[in-house]
Amino acid sequence: MQEAGSGLEGVVVADTRLSDVDGEAGRLVIAGSRVEALAASVPFEEVVRRLLGDEAGEGDLGAARLRAWPRVARLVDALAMKDGMDALRACAATLDVAAPVDIIGAVSVFVAANARVRMKREPLPPNPAARHAPDTLRMMTGATPGDPSAKAIDAYFVTVVDHGMNASTFTARVIASTGSDPTSAVTGAIGALKGPLHGGAPGPVLDMLDAIGSAERAEEWMASELDAGRRIMGMGHRVYRVRDPRAAVLEREVQRLEAAGVASGRLALARAAERAAERALAVRHPERPLRANVEFYTAVLLEALGVPRESFSPVFAAARVAGWCAHVAEQKRVGRLIRPSSRYVGATPQA
Ligand code: COA
Repeated sequence: MQEAGSGLEGVVVADTRLSDVDGEAGRLVIAGSRVEALAASVPFEEVVRRLLGDEAGEGDLGAARLRAWPRVARLVDALAMKDGMDALRACAATLDVAAPVDIIGAVSVFVAANARVRMKREPLPPNPAARHAPDTLRMMTGATPGDPSAKAIDAYFVTVVDHGMNASTFTARVIASTGSDPTSAVTGAIGALKGPLHGGAPGPVLDMLDAIGSAERAEEWMASELDAGRRIMGMGHRVYRVRDPRAAVLEREVQRLEAAGVASGRLALARAAERAAERALAVRHPERPLRANVEFYTAVLLEALGVPRESFSPVFAAARVAGWCAHVAEQKRVGRLIRPSSRYVGATPQA
C-alpha cells in the first residue's frame, strides 16, 4: 500500500488516451502528438477536436462564446470579485450547460470579463468569427492581436491544454466519477488550480522577477529566499526530473515574439533568474533535480501579450478547461466511482 501522506506519486488512477507525461525523459504527448509539434502547428480548436471528438458538442467555440456572452450581464457580483480565480469559480458554478464546447466557450468569456472589470473597463463581447485563444486575449486587452501575438496565445493554450493526472484534472475526474455533472467537475477543478503549488505560480513568478530587478542580483536573491525557507515559484515539479518541456516551448514563443517586435523586456532577466535558481536549488537539493516548470515562462509570455498578472491563472484555466472536459467525458465512460482508502491513526474506542 502507498505510504499515507505521500501525495499519491506513482499511483495509476486511470487509463487515458488524452495525454502522457514522461517525467524522466521530459516528454509530453497530447492526443498522440508531442507538445512541441502541436504548439508549433496545430490550432487550439483542432486540439480540442482531437481530445473530445464528437463529445465536444454541437457547433464551434466561436458560437459557444457568443451563447455565453449574455451571462456576463447577470454575473455582476461574481465578476467583481477581486481574485480572478474566485471570480471564475463563482461564474463557472452558475453554468447550466453540459456540452464541453459551451463550457470552454463560457470560461473564456468569464475570464476576459473579469479581467476587464478589474481594470474598471466594460467587458467586451466575443467575435465568433475569430479563433478562440486570440479572441480570449482581445476580449481581455481590447486590442485585436497581430499575427505574432495570435500565434503565441494559441501556442500557449495548446501547450497547457492537458497534462496527465495533475491535481485539478484528478479533482475533475473524482467529481465526474460520482455521477455528478460537468459544471461541478469544472468548478471543483478551478478550486484545485487556484493553489500556488499547482496553477497559481505564474503571477508570483513575475513578482519574483520584479523583486530581483536585474540579472546580477539573481544569485543573491535566490540564496536569501531559500535561506528564509521559501520556495522558488516556477521551479520544481512533481513528475519532471528534467526541465519541463513546456518551459522550452513557451520560452521559444517569447523569443519569437521578441524577434517580431513584441518585446517582453523580461526574457534576459528570466533566463538569468532560471539559471541562478537551478544552481541554488542544485546545491540545496542534490538528491532531486528542481528545474523550471511551465509556469516560469508562462509568466513572461502572458505579460508580453498584455495579460494582467492577476489573470495569469484564470487564462491557464481557460485553456485547461478543455482537458478537464475531456477527462470528465473519459471518466464517465469508465463509469466507476473513484474512492481510495485511508489508514486510521486516531484514538481507539475504549469499549
Ligand atoms: N523551491 C525550493 N524548494 C523546493 C521547490 C522550489 N520551487 N520545489 C521543491 N522544493 C524542495 C522542497 O522544499 C522539499 O525540500 P525538503 O525535502 O527539504 O522539505 C523538496 O524539494 C521536495 O519537495 P516536495 O514538496 O516533495 O516536491 P513536490 O513533488 O511535492 O513538489 C511542486 C512539486 C511543484 C509543488 C514544488 O516543486 C513547488 O512547490 N514548486 C513551486 C511552485 C510551482 O512552481 N508550482 C507550479 C507547478 S507546475
